[in-house]
Amino acid sequence: MMQNDTEKIIDEKVQGTALSLENNSKNTRKLYIESYGCQMNFSDSEIVASILAKEGFNTTQKLEEADLVLVNTCSIREKAEQTVRKRLEKYNAVKRTNPGMKIGVLGCMAERLKSKFLEEEKMVDMVVGPDAYKDLPNLIKEIDEGRNAVNVILSKDETYGDVAPVRLNSNGVSAFVSITRGCDNMCTFCVVPFTRGRERSRDPQSIIDEVNDLWDRGFKEITLLGQNVDSYLWYGGGLKKDFDKATDMQKATSVNFAKLLELVALAQPKMRIRFSTSNPQDMTLDVIDTMAKFDNICKYIHLPVQSGSDRILKEMNRLHTRQEYFTLIDNIKSRIPDCAISQDMITGFPTETEEDHQDTLSLMEYVKYDFGFMFAYSERPGTLAARKLEDDVPEAIKKRRLTEIINLQQEHALYRTQQHVGKTEEVLIEGTSKKSDAHWMGRNSQNTVVVFPKEDYKVGQFVNVKINDCTSATLIGEAVSLSKNN
Ligand code: SAH
Ligand code: F3S
Repeated sequence: MMQNDTEKIIDEKVQGTALSLENNSKNTRKLYIESYGCQMNFSDSEIVASILAKEGFNTTQKLEEADLVLVNTCSIREKAEQTVRKRLEKYNAVKRTNPGMKIGVLGCMAERLKSKFLEEEKMVDMVVGPDAYKDLPNLIKEIDEGRNAVNVILSKDETYGDVAPVRLNSNGVSAFVSITRGCDNMCTFCVVPFTRGRERSRDPQSIIDEVNDLWDRGFKEITLLGQNVDSYLWYGGGLKKDFDKATDMQKATSVNFAKLLELVALAQPKMRIRFSTSNPQDMTLDVIDTMAKFDNICKYIHLPVQSGSDRILKEMNRLHTRQEYFTLIDNIKSRIPDCAISQDMITGFPTETEEDHQDTLSLMEYVKYDFGFMFAYSERPGTLAARKLEDDVPEAIKKRRLTEIINLQQEHALYRTQQHVGKTEEVLIEGTSKKSDAHWMGRNSQNTVVVFPKEDYKVGQFVNVKINDCTSATLIGEAVSLSKNN
């Protein structure tokens, strides 16, 4: 899989017409909800749909017939925000023919721009930040009565652990389960700590209950979600940063990410388990050992590094060096030789020189990532980098460097996919291949897309597939047998 700035799957992508299969026949109002940005936003929209189902809303795929239009927004780069603004213009055009329609903004842009949306842009009726979704019933009452409504209060303890998400646009096979909210890392380029608040972890029991429920409903794969999953820490509630103040008893019974992975893997030994995102500064050997120990934990780590230059890593407030990153990679590869690793990279961070850029390329040569998500630096208002550093790398240079890392990533991706050719690998079928109705599409443990002729196999089955050929993004094979793991 190779994406560049405009193609990244989990970024700036519209969920489009999110439809729930669980619509309730008693509900009379129609909700149209669209999501942009990270997987967490997609997962949050499922929480929102669940809260609104109890308020009489069913989801619809038709914008024109919606009573309420919600857009879950992303602030990570300027372009993500521009995309949302264009959508808001579109909703307003439709609203002119359907004046009863109400429009609400959710997520990171709501948090970042707050009531500015109402005052300056007059394009929305309601603004709701990522920690305020439980207030939606009240906020909707407000807009029903003709008033604007805003709640952008960030919380210290909201994890939505008690809300069972409605699965939107689901293939019925894989689902997201969020385990932490917020981020305490303060990478200097990143707006997330401002829009999503302090880091807090969700009660492990509620995570396991959700995973068990998903299994009972036929799901076969879950992805545990957090901005920084390795930082997960449950000690009875409370912020990660307050762990020092916990009692001895709380500390003794606390659950870290390695432990959580083990609990989930044991709770559902046949469920495939993925997680995202890992942070090099927090990933422990315990996590890697737990991955190695359990067959049902997928052998894939998304491990963003952002830059290969020690100087830039420091400017970014990434709390590890290039050498420490290499040591982590070596530890992963020695414990799990077939583990796939992917990156996020930013080119053209302020002060980045040609030498820094070469360091990024040489780091990539060392790791030879299976996948990559690469971006040109986009200054975000309010971040430390925006306040302290001039955005001084010219756009043309950012673009040229971006192209160079994308091209190198493409080579590495092909090198990696070629290593699978000739092997027989277990694939979980997710649906029909986009390119051919006669082929299934699924993923192997390493998260590489595999396509193969359908024969009599079915969505949701684990199938052993012999890999015969590949591109840099896809493995092409044929089914050999049904896996014993079904
Ligand atoms: N820990 C998060 C990171 C969220 S942001 C996670 O769960 O993935 C995703 C990626 O966007 C980052 O890893 C970084 O590569 C990129 N990014 C963040 N801020 C950016 C900015 N200001 N300009 C360009 N890319 C950025
Ligand atoms: Fe952003 Fe760094 Fe957290 S990239 S989400 S501040 S780990």
